[in-house]
Amino acid sequence: MANQIQEYISLKHFNTFGIEAEARFFLTVNAEEDLINIIPQIPSGDKIMILGGGSNILLTGDYDGWVIKNNLSGIEIESETESEVVVGVGSGVNWHDWVMYTLEKGWYGLENLSLIPGSVGAAPMQNIGAYGAEIKQSFVYLEGVFLRTGIKKKFMKEECEFGYRESIFKRSVREFFITRVCFRLSKKSALNTGYGDIQKELEKLPYRNFTPRDVSNAVISIRRSKLPDPEVIGNAGSFFKNPTVSESVFLNLKTRFPDIPHYPAEEGKVKIPAAWLIQQCGWKGQRFGNFGVHEKQALVLVNYGGATGNEILKLSEEIIRSVHLFAGIELEREVNII
Ligand code: EPU
Repeated sequence: MANQIQEYISLKHFNTFGIEAEARFFLTVNAEEDLINIIPQIPSGDKIMILGGGSNILLTGDYDGWVIKNNLSGIEIESETESEVVVGVGSGVNWHDWVMYTLEKGWYGLENLSLIPGSVGAAPMQNIGAYGAEIKQSFVYLEGVFLRTGIKKKFMKEECEFGYRESIFKRSVREFFITRVCFRLSKKSALNTGYGDIQKELEKLPYRNFTPRDVSNAVISIRRSKLPDPEVIGNAGSFFKNPTVSESVFLNLKTRFPDIPHYPAEEGKVKIPAAWLIQQCGWKGQRFGNFGVHEKQALVLVNYGGATGNEILKLSEEIIRSVHLFAGIELEREVNII
């Protein structure tokens, strides 16, 4: 049974920024039928927001619409061979809990994505990635329901148009409630430890035949050392995407800043860490009362408690403006502004 429809519910504990805002209507769905049953009750002109872990949103005011909290659970093996396993996971499952489950089973593939806040259903929306891995590498398909019609649809990997922090669900397929995500994980294959800091962490161990658990522990310790824990300081991880620029723009910047960090990107472009650009502009560690820029990672904006979404939004606008003046680069937000 769906929880009953509630009104004027505080969303403070449903967004990792810890912003105070109210939902006009709020309900939790525990099964797909709950969702199908509620759809006819939502007037067609009303706004709907699907809430997973609330870890990639910035609420800039009360939400005058319907907030549907995703509580769909369940982890089921669909098929299995000696070398791999295909598993379907309810979209409301906490992402890190799912990663921990795969480690208990000894499956390879998600260890680099440990400790990412949010839910399984939100993960493909922005093709979550960290430490050299992205969800698209182990993704098989997802299922969901169109919110206005109740029609179900399955999207295979090719149809999801995954890119850097991008998918079709962020662009054209909107108002679609992802209900289940299916992954293919390996029982044997190699680990992805190429990302500089992971290797450094692993080298501290007294042995060399590393397990997915070792890589996960390394990732957890790196993340804990750099990223603020949303339980302690409100934040939504990276607030901006890392921008890509053309080779000529990059060469120009390199003459001005010979040490500029950079990585190769698609189509001969160059990716520049937004954190570096923001730090160069002097923002890192700046605090403005209740909010600011994290002291250890300039890409993360933080709410020390009591900040409003609009204050953080304004700060992000000022950062975008200053980076533009400094380097001629227009930063894009990664977080969804609501
Ligand atoms: N850097 C700075 N100043 C800083 C932080 C970083 O100059 O304050 C520079 C350094 O040169 C560093 C480089 O930026 O070498 C890259 O930094 P880092 O490895 O911390 O990664 P990032 O590019 O800033 C991305 C993801 C993170 C993910 C890490 C690790 C994006 C938008 N962010 O950050 O994802 O954890 O890589 O793989 O791609 C998230 O999406 O919420 C998130 C935390």
